[in-house]
Amino acid sequence: MTPGSTTPAQRRRLFFNAFVMNTTSHIHHGQWRRPDAQQHNFNDVETWIDLARILEEAKFDSMFFADVVGLYGDAEADYSVYVNEGLQIPSNDPAVLVGALAAHTEHIGLAVTSNVFQQHPTNFARQLTTLDHISKGRVAWNIVTGTQDNGYRNFGYEALADHSERYRWADEFVDVTYKLWEGSWDDDALVQDKAGSRHADPDKIHKIFHSSPRYRVEGPFLPAPSPQRTPLLFQAGSSGPGRDFAARNAEAVFLIAPTPEIARQQIEETRALAVSYGRDPHDITFHQGLSFVIGDTEDEAREKFRWYQQYVSADGYSAHSAIVDKAGRVYPADTPLSQIDTNTAKGFLEHLRKHITDREPTVGDLAVQRLEETVVVGTPEQIADTVELWQAAGVDGINVINWVIPGSFQEFADKVLPVLRERGLAQREYGEGTLRRKLFGQDRLSGRHPAARYRGAFTNGPRSWAEAEQAALTSGH
Ligand SMILES: Cc1cc2nc3c(=O)[nH]c(=O)nc-3n(C[C@H](O)[C@H](O)[C@H](O)COP(=O)(O)O)c2cc1C
Repeated sequence: MTPGSTTPAQRRRLFFNAFVMNTTSHIHHGQWRRPDAQQHNFNDVETWIDLARILEEAKFDSMFFADVVGLYGDAEADYSVYVNEGLQIPSNDPAVLVGALAAHTEHIGLAVTSNVFQQHPTNFARQLTTLDHISKGRVAWNIVTGTQDNGYRNFGYEALADHSERYRWADEFVDVTYKLWEGSWDDDALVQDKAGSRHADPDKIHKIFHSSPRYRVEGPFLPAPSPQRTPLLFQAGSSGPGRDFAARNAEAVFLIAPTPEIARQQIEETRALAVSYGRDPHDITFHQGLSFVIGDTEDEAREKFRWYQQYVSADGYSAHSAIVDKAGRVYPADTPLSQIDTNTAKGFLEHLRKHITDREPTVGDLAVQRLEETVVVGTPEQIADTVELWQAAGVDGINVINWVIPGSFQEFADKVLPVLRERGLAQREYGEGTLRRKLFGQDRLSGRHPAARYRGAFTNGPRSWAEAEQAALTSGH
C-alpha cells in the first residue's frame, strides 16, 4: 500500500506517545549538551509539568516513562562512560514522578516502567492502583524483566536471570497482580454508607491465597478498585518468549523495528499468537519508536540533522547497546552476531539479523541502528508520508523518541501533528474517560484477557491456606 491510498474516513487515527525517562540521557546520547536541551533538569518537577502541559495541549495520548534499576554492560567493569554521559545515571523513580504529574494533568496517559524483580507484586499492585486513583484511570504499566546484571545485583540476585526464566518470572508476577486487581474486590464492595455505619461489605472482599514458587500472597488487596482496576498493560519484548508473553498479556506493544516490513512480521506473528490464546488480534496495539528531524524544506531538515550529529556521543550509543556474554563480559563492537551467546535483550539482535542480510552484522551495528535507522528526516509532509508507511505495516501508534526535552515534542506538536490531523491520523480532541477507554472504548480489561478469569473467582473461595492447598490439589494446580 502506498501512502494516501486510503481516505481519511477509512483510516484509523494513530496513537502518539512521548517516550521519556526520568534522567538526562535516555536514547539520543550527547544531545543533552545542546543549548536548547532541558533534560538535565529532570530533578526539577517543573520540567516535567511543563512538558506534560505541552503534550496535553498537543493531544498526545501518553507520556511513557522508561526505567532501569541498574547500569548496562559489564557489572564488574569501570562505569565511567555512563556517569560521564549522564546515561541513565543519575535517574529517578518514574512512579513517584507520575504521582505528581497526575495532579497537574487531566487527559494524558501516564505509563510507568517497572521491572518484575524490583518489588514484591503486592506492594507494586497497591502502588499502581493508588496512581490509577490519583489520575482517575490514566495509568499504564510497562512490564519489563530487565537486561542488566547490575540491576539484578542491586536487588540481591547474583546476575541477570536466564532469558526464558525472566519471562516465567513475569508470568508469575502478573498472575499475582491480576488476582489482586481483578479478583479480590467485587465492584460493589465499597459501600461508604454513613447512616448505616458500614464502610464496605466483607462478603464482597476476598482473600486470594496465591501460592507459586516465588510468591505467597494471602490478600485481600488493600486498595478498593481503581477506575481501570488493572492498569493498561504495555510490554516491549520482541524475542520469541517476549512475543509470546505479549500475545498473552499486553494491550500495547512497543517496537523499535528497523523497517516497516520487519515491524509487520512481528505484528502479524504476535497477533496470530494472541488469537491462539483466545484473544482478538486487535486486543493488542503496536507502537513504533521513531525520532524526527523536522525542517520547512528537506534541505533544512538535513542541515539540522548534521547539527544534531555534532552532538552525538558514539561512546554513549555503544555503551547503551552493549551486549554481554553469559559470564557478563561485553562483546567488542566488531563481534559478528553469529558468535554471540547472550542472555540480555534478544529481540534487537533478531531484528538486526533480519535487517542486514548482505553481510554478517556485528554488535557495533546495533549502536548505528539506534542512531540512524529509526530517525525520520524531512518536511512535515514527508514525515507524515513515512508515518503512513508504518501504519500500513500494521502499526497503531508512534512512540516519539526525543532528542531534547521539551523542544523535540514542541516541534512535533507545532509542525507535524497539524499535517497528521489533516490526514485524519492524529486526534483533534481527547476522548472521554480512562486511558483504556480512550484506546479500546472500555475502562476494564477485555473479557478475553487472562486476568479476566479472576473476576468473581474468589467469591466462594477458600477461607484458609489449608483449604486453598486442598482446592489446588483437587483441581490439579
Ligand atoms: C520501545 C522499547 C522500550 C523499552 N523500555 C524499556 C525500559 O524502560 N526498561 C527496560 O528494562 N527495558 C526496556 N525495553 C527492553 C524490553 O523490555 C526487553 O527487555 C528487551 O526488548 C528484550 O526483550 P526480548 O529479549 O524479549 O526482545 C524496551 C524495549 C523497547 C523496544
